[in-house]
Amino acid sequence: MSLRLGDIAPDFTQDSTDGPINFHEWAGDNWIILFSHPKDFTPVCTTELGEVSRLKPEFEKRNAKAIGLSVDPVDDHRAWAGDIQETQGHGLNFPLLADGDRKVSDLYDMIHPNANDSLTVRSVFIIDPNKKIRLTITYPASTGRNFPEILRVIDSLQLTDDYKVATPVNWTDGGDCIIVPAVTNEQAKEMFPGGWDEKKPYLRMVKQPNKP
Ligand code: BEZ
Repeated sequence: MSLRLGDIAPDFTQDSTDGPINFHEWAGDNWIILFSHPKDFTPVCTTELGEVSRLKPEFEKRNAKAIGLSVDPVDDHRAWAGDIQETQGHGLNFPLLADGDRKVSDLYDMIHPNANDSLTVRSVFIIDPNKKIRLTITYPASTGRNFPEILRVIDSLQLTDDYKVATPVNWTDGGDCIIVPAVTNEQAKEMFPGGWDEKKPYLRMVKQPNKP
């Protein structure tokens, strides 16, 4: 059965470029981006891993860490890291799991046999500090992911957790937010003293709470 939003992310121990990793222990109280790529030494994957390395400071600002995975061996991951540095200008700065026995791929349903029966698809899981799965996305092998979108989702989730606001279509950082329906107007007066724009009783727009 596939994993769903709100499920606890399954724990595992697997080898990686940083040595054996126990996932829950490694995750600690961080937000985690767990993502699979199909294969080392392939072009789209090379660009993705360079991008995730480039974005490390952005993950850190959000108390988030990335961890990648493919079924290739650790030695291949390490050898490929040189190409990533050379071609993308950013060396691998996060662990890559070596899931040759498919332990993690099977747990997280990352191999979709009707797409490819031996390689992982481009899965993404955002996992919160309580180890709950908060987002899943699956991309085909031929489409490189948009990692700024992953950061945008983390920002949105953190706003919801911290301030009880949701984010509207195409929201980006600094844009107006929506007071979640579970918050009554009485509660909202306390929580949003600057007020809000009530377009409908269920559509209450408010300035992004963590911005001046
Ligand atoms: C790539 O990363 O370029 C790739 C990997 C597997 C299949 C297709 C493309």
